[in-house]
Amino acid sequence: MKPLRRGNAFLLAIVWLPLLCGAPAEHKDSCVECHTALEGNLGKPAAVFSQDVHARDGFSCSDCHGGDRNTDDPEASMSRARGFIGKPARTAIPKLCARCHSDATLIHRFKPQQRVDQLAQYQTSVHGKRLAAGDGAVATCIDCHSVHDIREVRDALSPVHPLRLPETCARCHADARHMAPYKIETNQFEQYRTSVHWEALAKRGDLSAPSCASCHGNHGAAPPQVASVANVCGTCHVLFEELYNKSPHQPVFSAMGTGGCTVCHGNHGIKQPSLAMLSGSGAVCAQCHDATSKGGATAAQMAALLGRLQEALAKSDEVLNRAHSDGMEVSEAQMRQLEGREALVKARVAVHAFQTAAVEQPANQGLAIAAETLRAGQSALEERNHRRRGLALSLITILITMGGLWLAIRNLEAKPEAAPKSARR
Ligand code: HEC
Ligand code: HEC
Ligand code: HEC
Ligand code: HEC
Ligand code: HEC
Ligand code: HEC
Ligand code: HEC
Ligand code: HEC
Ligand code: HEC
Repeated sequence: MKPLRRGNAFLLAIVWLPLLCGAPAEHKDSCVECHTALEGNLGKPAAVFSQDVHARDGFSCSDCHGGDRNTDDPEASMSRARGFIGKPARTAIPKLCARCHSDATLIHRFKPQQRVDQLAQYQTSVHGKRLAAGDGAVATCIDCHSVHDIREVRDALSPVHPLRLPETCARCHADARHMAPYKIETNQFEQYRTSVHWEALAKRGDLSAPSCASCHGNHGAAPPQVASVANVCGTCHVLFEELYNKSPHQPVFSAMGTGGCTVCHGNHGIKQPSLAMLSGSGAVCAQCHDATSKGGATAAQMAALLGRLQEALAKSDEVLNRAHSDGMEVSEAQMRQLEGREALVKARVAVHAFQTAAVEQPANQGLAIAAETLRAGQSALEERNHRRRGLALSLITILITMGGLWLAIRNLEAKPEAAPKSARR
């Protein structure tokens, strides 16, 4: 009997210990219990729910679906009388989520700084407006965030994480069948993946580069700081926008209703800019200005200046590298060369004034630096040649001396033999 009693005491301890320690008593959750045992679409929500941010915060099925989780009787548990809504209609989802997410008191209990304007913003977007009109093909909250395994947005596995978002949007926007009723392109994803932005974001891990929502906004029609998506570039590329806004293009492009920067750079497939944009058969300027016009002439002059600077810096680089690899001290000129590169960057920004004089100033500065570093490199190479000539001369002197010595030694060795030579005969 003794061992059994000890067992009883042990069991009692297990049951009471958590209560004694003040841990909350486990609520019954018949929804999870029963649905975990079900298959397919009925079982999956319960199977993945442990990864959901709502489960982490203590919410469960009935907080979205209603019903009573304290009874095992499916009829009672899922009765409309107890608020059960079943599977919500697509058009009802934003309001379902917003019941909590627009409630600042509730949300701030869990995250004090969290925004509570997702629904309000969403209703201003094309998605939100079309859904309100009954179109279920647009994105609702769960198409971007998923459902039953909703993660924190900063979680790398969240479908709205910047690196995953393009694929999330592409599920609809790259699907020609899904988008067929609407007269818009389905190439955004494909083009974006070839862009300087995706390259910076995905290949260099630069999280300041834009993903789809950085330009289009998370929930609203456009990010809050811009009037339209077409003006979004300047929020990051500030200097470019300042010059562009003062340029002759700004008023005409804006009257034409085209986005400023995107006229020349495009929107989704932005490429690394180069001189080819200014001159040659594919030049963007040539689309609107012929070569004889003021615009055409300006393009040619800017291309010439940038081309000369690029070439001059490359030539200095080549000479300095040669001197350096031959062991000459050129670090000062190499440091100065960095300032030349900076002048090139400035000249490329200055292009956006679309005036030759604006590019001339940094370009000339850069050209002066390149000329200086070229001279430094060349004199280092001359110094090297001079040293080489000196070295060659001393080598020759040493060789001649050694040759002379060798002859002298040979003579010394030969002399004692000379006498007996005749004697031998
Ligand atoms: C004893 C088992 C059992 C319990 C308890 C239970 N369910 Fe169900 N649930 C089912 C079965 C079986 C179905 C599919 C048949 C049906 O629709 O009645 C279902 C269907 C559903 C559906 C899909 C309905 C639709 O319209 O497609 C949802 C949502 C759901 N349950 C949520 C809940 C929630 C929330 C709870 C707890 C409040 C709960 N269930 C409790 C067994 C259960
Ligand atoms: C954050 C809110 C939320 C929570 C929590 C939640 N659901 Fe759902 N559930 C939804 C939404 C929204 C849908 C509609 C999905 C759709 O339209 O594809 C849904 C759909 C379902 C369906 C129908 C699936 C289908 O494809 O027919 C079932 C069954 C279901 N939920 C069960 C559960 C169970 C069980 C739990 C708890 C483990 C749970 N849900 C927790 C929001 C929630
Ligand atoms: C078109 C896709 C999309 C839709 C639709 C969408 N979201 Fe979001 N949501 C995002 C993105 C993108 C983020 C930001 C991710 C980040 O910060 O990196 C986000 C962030 C959030 C956040 C974190 C706080 C914040 O505002 O940054 C919450 C909460 C949220 N969404 C809830 C909702 C709710 C509720 C709905 C429906 C009313 C909804 N979302 C609809 C894409 C979407
Ligand atoms: C019963 C209340 C409730 C409902 C309904 C609800 N949520 Fe939440 N949700 C919360 C709370 C509380 C948090 C934790 C606070 C936070 O992180 O913003 C949260 C967190 C989130 C987060 C993580 C935000 C972050 O911090 O990164 C997302 C995304 C989210 N919910 C989306 C949804 C979506 C989509 C729906 C509808 C399908 C939904 N929620 C329905 C209460 C709710
Ligand atoms: C569930 C499918 C779906 C998802 C996911 C989705 N969209 Fe949409 N989106 C649509 C549909 C359908 C339209 C309506 C097209 C129209 O009216 O021209 C639309 C419209 C748009 C528009 C307006 C197009 C116009 O007419 O000018 C933009 C911009 C947009 N979506 C961006 C996004 C971004 C960015 C994401 C990801 C964060 C995304 N969408 C995710 C289906 C989706
Ligand atoms: C660098 C900013 C930027 C990024 C990143 C971006 N877009 Fe856009 N997107 C734009 C601009 C600008 C427009 C043109 C809008 C206008 O003229 O009002 C546009 C237009 C659209 C449209 C309307 C149809 C069209 O092609 O004109 C859709 C849909 C769209 N983008 C989806 C996406 C998706 C999906 C992604 C991510 C794969 C994405 N965008 C990434 C800036 C961006
Ligand atoms: C969210 C911030 C952000 C937005 C919005 C944005 N960009 Fe960028 N952009 C970047 C970052 C970061 C890089 C990578 C910088 C680098 O490579 O030095 C970049 C690179 C570029 C480059 C290549 C420059 C280079 O030196 O390699 C061009 C051109 C460009 N963006 C144009 C645009 C245009 C046009 C738009 C609007 C349609 C735009 N960007 C919107 C952040 C942004
Ligand atoms: C009228 C055509 C035009 C417009 C409009 C325009 N750009 Fe450019 N942009 C160019 C040209 C040409 C270059 C390339 C100069 C070179 O590399 O030789 C360039 C280069 C750039 C670069 C790369 C600079 C570098 O260091 O390589 C960025 C970034 C850029 N532009 C951003 C913008 C932004 C942001 C806007 C809008 C505020 C804008 N551009 C408007 C023609 C334009
Ligand atoms: C989409 C058409 C378009 C493109 C592309 C374009 N421009 Fe223009 N540009 C105009 C218009 C329209 C004006 C104002 C009318 C005018 O003066 O010709 C203008 C004005 C100018 C002016 C002032 C002309 C004057 O008479 O004062 C210069 C300089 C100029 N552009 C240079 C460029 C350069 C350089 C590029 C390429 C980087 C370029 N433009 C690309 C349409 C364009």
